[in-house]
Amino acid sequence: MNPEALGAAFHEAYRRAPEGVWRAPGRLNLIGEHTDYNDGFVLPFALAQGVAVAAARRADSLLEIRSLQAAGTAVTVDLDVVAGDWASGEHWAAYPAGVGWVLRERGVGGASILIDADLPRGAGLSSSAALECATALALCELSGVEIPRAELAVLAQRAENEHVGVPCGIMDQSASLLCKDGHALMLDCRSGLSAQVPFDPSAAGLRLVVVDTRAEHVLSGSEYGRRRAECEEAARVLGVDALRDVKDLAGALGALGDPVLRRRVQHVVTENHRVEATVGLLRAGAVAELGAMLTASHISLRDQFQISWPEADVAVEAAMRAGARGGRMVGGGFGGSVVVLVPEARVDGVQTAVATAYADRGWADPVFISAEPAEGARRVL
Ligand code: GLA
Repeated sequence: MNPEALGAAFHEAYRRAPEGVWRAPGRLNLIGEHTDYNDGFVLPFALAQGVAVAAARRADSLLEIRSLQAAGTAVTVDLDVVAGDWASGEHWAAYPAGVGWVLRERGVGGASILIDADLPRGAGLSSSAALECATALALCELSGVEIPRAELAVLAQRAENEHVGVPCGIMDQSASLLCKDGHALMLDCRSGLSAQVPFDPSAAGLRLVVVDTRAEHVLSGSEYGRRRAECEEAARVLGVDALRDVKDLAGALGALGDPVLRRRVQHVVTENHRVEATVGLLRAGAVAELGAMLTASHISLRDQFQISWPEADVAVEAAMRAGARGGRMVGGGFGGSVVVLVPEARVDGVQTAVATAYADRGWADPVFISAEPAEGARRVL
């Protein structure tokens, strides 16, 4: 929905005009999966799809939350009273409410907000971070609270960790707030330093096709936390602050007795190198060579980190057979999307091959989205 139409819907819902509309994008992580909470590197870019929030101040401390995707539901929380029963992670309103509670400490006041999303939920494209970041920008600007974007990303992450109960890393919120049109964001998740890396697949005759595998994120919550704990345990055994610090992979593997921890370390260490190599390839203008990196990442996520799912493996394999240069699962795992790098001339063939492979297995039709690096979060009205 365009910002004016969302503004009109706000008027309808709250019987007054919004003071503005803010929009934050979902992200596609090109490479660097499960590296963020290991103090490592990630390389996401912003999608054109995202979440928009129309908002107006209230004179009190209440945050009124409505969503066009949940018509008829209105949730009101008091920013001065943190409710304890949101931690199920199930309720969409916990995301904006959590952001409100975290930002209350920075001086934001009450507001009425209306949410609209054109990003599928549960597709591994960070609809949650987009919702958090659009809400955060709206609340800050309405109250005249200025917070640098890298810091705002940390606050949005804190909202998700503390009020939704998801132990996510810093990647998704950083991507939504810091990405620039036409660029991928190389983020060092330890220092918080980032660099914009020009990325234009179409100039190289290539397309990044996102395949929403339509598989639900079953297990994603508990398994995500388990992977994170395994990585922390491996770092403890190896005597380093985080797996980012492992320099000698062979030595580390030799020092770990537990075969599961060895696999996790193998993934994280090699994935960090793949991010750096990918940045090198992009800077050299060798975009087609990314394919091999994507596929290597997928194999590592499937076999070492063990978080892939059948629909993702089949999508990558079918796409490769039909001429994709490479591809991988994206996001936390166990459901969501796959990204494949495809020569323009092969896009139809690849999509048909993936759809046919799904139909042959009796799976739901995959949904294809073409992904180009878009602009990060901003005010749109
Ligand atoms: C989810 C989390 C991120 C990151 C990815 C895996 O998207 O929110 O912080 O850990 O999984 O790379």
